[in-house]
Amino acid sequence: KSNHQPYRTAYHFQPLKNWINDPNGPMRYGGFYHLFYQYNPKGAVWGNIVWAHSVSKDLVNWTPLDHAIHPSQPSDIKGCWSGSATILPGGKPAILYTGIDPNNHQVQNIAIPKNMSDPLLREWKKSPKNPLMEPTIANKINSSSFRDPTTSWLGKDGFWRVLIGSKIDTKGMAILYKSKNFVDWVEAKHPLHSAEGTGMWECPDFYPVLDKNLLRTGVDTSRNGDDDVRHVLKVSLDDTKHDHYLIGSYDVVKDVFVPENGFEDNGFVLRYDYGKYYASKTFFDDGKNRRILLGWVNESSSVADDVKKGWSGIHTIPREIWLHESGKQLVQWPVKEIENLRMNPVNWPTKVIKGGERISITGVDSVQADVEISFEISDLGKVESLRKWIDPQLLCSQKGAGVKGGVGPFGLLVFASQGLKEYTAVFFRIFKYQDKNLVLMCSDQSRSSLNKDNDMTSYGTFVDVDPLHEKLSLRTLIDHSVVESFGGEGRACVTARVYPTLAIHDKAMLYAFNNGTSAVKITSLSAWSMKKAKDQLKLTSEY
Ligand code: FRU
Repeated sequence: KSNHQPYRTAYHFQPLKNWINDPNGPMRYGGFYHLFYQYNPKGAVWGNIVWAHSVSKDLVNWTPLDHAIHPSQPSDIKGCWSGSATILPGGKPAILYTGIDPNNHQVQNIAIPKNMSDPLLREWKKSPKNPLMEPTIANKINSSSFRDPTTSWLGKDGFWRVLIGSKIDTKGMAILYKSKNFVDWVEAKHPLHSAEGTGMWECPDFYPVLDKNLLRTGVDTSRNGDDDVRHVLKVSLDDTKHDHYLIGSYDVVKDVFVPENGFEDNGFVLRYDYGKYYASKTFFDDGKNRRILLGWVNESSSVADDVKKGWSGIHTIPREIWLHESGKQLVQWPVKEIENLRMNPVNWPTKVIKGGERISITGVDSVQADVEISFEISDLGKVESLRKWIDPQLLCSQKGAGVKGGVGPFGLLVFASQGLKEYTAVFFRIFKYQDKNLVLMCSDQSRSSLNKDNDMTSYGTFVDVDPLHEKLSLRTLIDHSVVESFGGEGRACVTARVYPTLAIHDKAMLYAFNNGTSAVKITSLSAWSMKKAKDQLKLTSEY
């Protein structure tokens, strides 16, 4: 193991060096998953943006290819920014992306494969008709707020639709364009959706999810007009740097989206991930009939440290995403394929963990692991009560892992050093609020590193789990500087980046802990060391 790069990930998506941000144009084509992403070929900070390209057979092991789209025509000469792929009838992929023109205006362009018989889609050609969409004075759109086209969807009227992220003053919006031929686009009279005070909407995503769907099945983005689907609108809010979503109904004839969940007093409440997570995008995997979510995780280290290590940014483990049976929220779970990296399983029998107790999880590589733990609570007698509503993230920072509670905090200590000078804690803590039991899930980074140049903000959310009648489960993917956690079987996700100075390599320890007064039962614990992801094509020697 190299001592120079203790924070490089082993099984998260990450190029060899330099800056990366948004996932772009994910799709399945020619038997491969294709992932493009915002990339700076020249350094570890944002700039000189091109579309880098990788392919994979399993969404886990990726092979880098040459950059697919880079500045080459006036409509993108100052940068090739985010966009999406659409599979057109006959199986032809088309990419719509934002280009930065010589006047620094944001415009939308199209690129299509040069050679459809190349399953790797290595070469892309741009239309001489670019740009296809430009901000107009009539629509009052500022040329610096007009970007990130979605995957397009087809209505029964034969028109394609696409959304472009935008704002007017502080009113964020998803502008709708329509086209018959995918080249000539006309702006619709009204944006598909907008909200006062939310600021710029980056990287919108709009897709159907099956209602009452116990099989987690995903559907094609062009599925609409049926009453067994609902629609999700996700936007990345530039002001908060979070990915928020709304669930609602979409009328494809009137092109109206009415949100039913996720909105409160005009503010977005639901998030994909309550930690560090941004500019995500889904695609429909027609091979396995599931919808896959990919997202970018920025560093929490200083720019100077990023430059020193030579890279910045990773992507999360691709997640399956579907509508929870309650219809009130989405659920996410790491793709099954990631389990192929698991090795050397450690399994515990049922164990009671007393208040104040900490039990070491031995036998796994604690900097490169996948841990699943489930708790059962039989006694809520000592539960703390919450008198007034408080932002869960704030609650997590006030009541960190070190603050003793009634029922909880209990969970995992990861990247823990000898003597606990450093640790990151992922835990639950239960409160009584207005006669209901409220489950708080936290990722506490406040003690994650002795290097105080890092952002060590704690994250958290309430999880919609009934702690008396359901098990309380936590899965955490640990990968050198990543702590990616799933609570309540995917009802709450919290991703964090940490940079321990002592708890690195074989010095890091992993524990289950309980710092509450009440004992809780660990009903199961399974942990695995994780193999390193590999460049697949080298392995398969197919090419
Ligand atoms: C989101 C974003 C997009 C833009 C791209 C530029 O992170 O700002 O709005 O297209 O990154 O790299």
